[in-house]
Amino acid sequence: MSILITGGAGYIGAHTCVELLNAGYEIVVIDNFYNSQKESLTRVSEITGKSFPFYMCDIRDRAGLEKIFKNEKPEAVIHFAGLKAVGESCRLPLEYYDNNVSGTLTLCEVMQQFGCKNLVFSSSATVYGENNISPLKETMPAGGTTNPYGTTKYMIEIILQDLCKADKDFSVCLLRYFNPIGAHESGRIGENPNGIPNNLMPYITQVAIGRREKLSVFGNDYDTHDGTGVRDYIHVVDLAKGHVKALDYCIKNTGAEIFNLGTGTGYSVLDVVNAFKKASGADVPYEIAPRRPGDIATCYSDPTKAALILGWYAEKSLEDMCRDSWRWQSKNPNGYGE
Ligand code: NAD
Ligand code: WQD
Repeated sequence: MSILITGGAGYIGAHTCVELLNAGYEIVVIDNFYNSQKESLTRVSEITGKSFPFYMCDIRDRAGLEKIFKNEKPEAVIHFAGLKAVGESCRLPLEYYDNNVSGTLTLCEVMQQFGCKNLVFSSSATVYGENNISPLKETMPAGGTTNPYGTTKYMIEIILQDLCKADKDFSVCLLRYFNPIGAHESGRIGENPNGIPNNLMPYITQVAIGRREKLSVFGNDYDTHDGTGVRDYIHVVDLAKGHVKALDYCIKNTGAEIFNLGTGTGYSVLDVVNAFKKASGADVPYEIAPRRPGDIATCYSDPTKAALILGWYAEKSLEDMCRDSWRWQSKNPNGYGE
């Protein structure tokens, strides 16, 4: 019996593969390598000293999935595969609905066909939308998303909850991630964005390494302690460990459960810049720029439910996140061997 990891070559997927292998699970990875390289999986094997099968397969390829389920007989699926760029989703909504929503439907149909009914899904804090006040709790109303990417996550949450209502054998954990940053402490795997990074930490590390001139801080007139946006940054290794706990829970239970995976602490953009400079010793020139459309002032989690039910809580500090992001960037200035 093994655990099938969709999108396992990506940023969060590769870190989760490491933690699953370290916890003694057998894994099988599928990825279409749209936003990743096989090299990340080679490095997962190198870090853990374990090998595992992987298949180049798109989750919308029903026949491909059927062959993999027939060969590998997975007991559960951790489903990371998806497109994740907010701005791109506004330009290419059909691609996002097709990849994320249709892809998940095909995956679930094949799971049902093969009697594999345990699923851990990568959702996002973005499903809380604009109208809830932090700290965000799982009981707050979801929806009110502001871009097609966020709406795909919200739609998939509804679909998976309906599936659990209809098929009482299904067990689904919907994991709402806050802002994952950092990298494995080996410096061998990490985030490897294509082109100009959209997210704060990869932008900071590329400025620090000299690939970009300066960071634009999007707004300093928010109602926060220093006027810049506040977010709940979480170390990707803590996040990966949350998946191991969620998987254990998912296999033992039925029905759909939602869990926030965050630290419960909010840091501003300037807090992150300053912590990064301290941890790396590198300079990060920045300028104050206009607000980015769609951004909110403050977003952080109430992580109590995951602590109580899964026995999981984040352990790493902002300093750890900055140090590990920098180690990854400085050891791999151009990502995976490009
Ligand atoms: P990523 O892009 O690094 O990883 C996603 C992986 O899925 C990539 O390897 C990509 O090649 C693969 N993939 C995409 N479409 C596929 C398809 N149709 N078939 C097979 N493989 C496919 O992204 P990540 O940061 O590791 O995110 C993983 C998941 O977590 C995504 O679903 C994302 O939406 C979600 N998430 C990410 C964040 C974040 O800030 N990184 C926050 C909340 C939620
Ligand atoms: C963080 C803060 C920016 C870049 C996004 C998605 C969300 C989730 C995580 C997937 C904000 C500021 C950023 C820059 C800046 N992904 N910033 N200059 O927007 O909280 O969340 O990624 O599910 O759905 O929306 O993350 O890293 O883009 O921004 O000042 O160059 O940094 O304004 O305050 P965000 P982020």
